[in-house]
Amino acid sequence: MLIRKQRGWEIPEMRATPEALFWRRREVLVGLGLGGAMLLTRPGRARAVAADDPSGTLYPFPRNERYQLDRALTDPDVASRYNNFYEFGSHKEIWEAAQTLVIRPWEIRIDGMVEKEMTIAIDDLLAKMPREERLYRHRCVEAWAMAVPWSGFPMAELVKLARPLGSATYVRMETFLDPDAAPGQRQVWYPWPYVESVTIAEAMNELAFLVSGVYGKPLPRQHGAPLRLVLPWKYGFKSIKSIVRISFTDQRPVSFWEEIQGSEYGFWANVNPEVAHPRWSQASEALIGTSERVPTQLYNGYGDYVAALYAGMEGEGERLFM
Ligand code: MTE
Repeated sequence: MLIRKQRGWEIPEMRATPEALFWRRREVLVGLGLGGAMLLTRPGRARAVAADDPSGTLYPFPRNERYQLDRALTDPDVASRYNNFYEFGSHKEIWEAAQTLVIRPWEIRIDGMVEKEMTIAIDDLLAKMPREERLYRHRCVEAWAMAVPWSGFPMAELVKLARPLGSATYVRMETFLDPDAAPGQRQVWYPWPYVESVTIAEAMNELAFLVSGVYGKPLPRQHGAPLRLVLPWKYGFKSIKSIVRISFTDQRPVSFWEEIQGSEYGFWANVNPEVAHPRWSQASEALIGTSERVPTQLYNGYGDYVAALYAGMEGEGERLFM
C-alpha cells in the first residue's frame, strides 16, 4: 500500500454529488445540447452491477439518519474506479479486472466457536437481516478518504445469528480464494486468502456494518461484492471484501497485512492523526475526486461510538493506532 498521487480526474466539479443528481445534471446539459462531450466520458462498466442479482429488488435500503457526514458524498464513479483489492492487482485501477469475479452462487460459512456451524447463501442472509443505508466516512491507511452511502446490516445481527460460545473473543473473516478469477492470488508471495479480524466487542459495536450495496444498488465487484465489512473508525484495510467465511475463536488471528508487514499494519488499526505510519504522516487525508486535503480525526471522527472499547488498553502495550 503506497501513497497515491493526484489524478487528472480529481477535479473539484466532479465531487460530492449524489449519483442521481449527478447524472440528472448531465441529462439537463444534454437536453440543452451542451453535454455531448461529457456523455462520451460517462463510464459504463465501472458502476455496472450484476443484472442477475437475486437480491437486486431489495435496493435501495431505507436510510438510517443517525449517521451524518461532515463532508459531501464522493462521486460514485470516483469511488468505484479507485479501489484497493489486491486479489485483482496492487494498483488502484482494478475495477475492470474485478468483473471476472463470480458472485452467485455465493455462500458464507459460519464456524468455529459457535453453538451450531452453518453455511448460508448470501441471498438468504440478506433476506433475514434488518437492512439499512448509512452514510460513512472511509479512511485508507494510505491517507486518502471518501464518504459513501453503504447498504447493509449491523454486524451485531450476524453475531446473534451465529450464536458464539461465551469463550469466543474474536471474529475472523476470510475472502474467497480463486486464483483463476483473481490474478493477484497467483502472486504466491502474498499470504492468500485475505484475512481480517475484530474482537467480538468490536463486532457488536453499532458502527460495525456488513455491506452488500453502495449508492442504493448492489455492490459492484470492485467494492467487494457480494458482502464486505465496513469499520469506519479503523483504517480501510480492516474492511475485508468478498467474505466467504466468518469464524469465531479465542485466539487473536493474524491478518493479511499484519502477516506481510507487522511493523506497519497491526491488529487494531484505529485511525489517529497523531500516530504516523512508519513511512508517512496520518495528520491529514486527501478526499478522492477533489483537490482537497482535510485534517484527519481521531477514530476517523467516530470516537463517541468507539473510544470506550479501548479504555485503558494502551497501558497494556496494545498498539491501538497501527
Ligand atoms: N479486502 C480484500 N479482500 N482485499 C483487499 O486488497 N483492501 C483493503 C480493504 N479490503 C482489500 C480489502 C483496503 S487497503 C481498503 S482501503 C479498502 O478495502 C478499500 O475499499 P474500496 O476499494 O471499496 O474503497
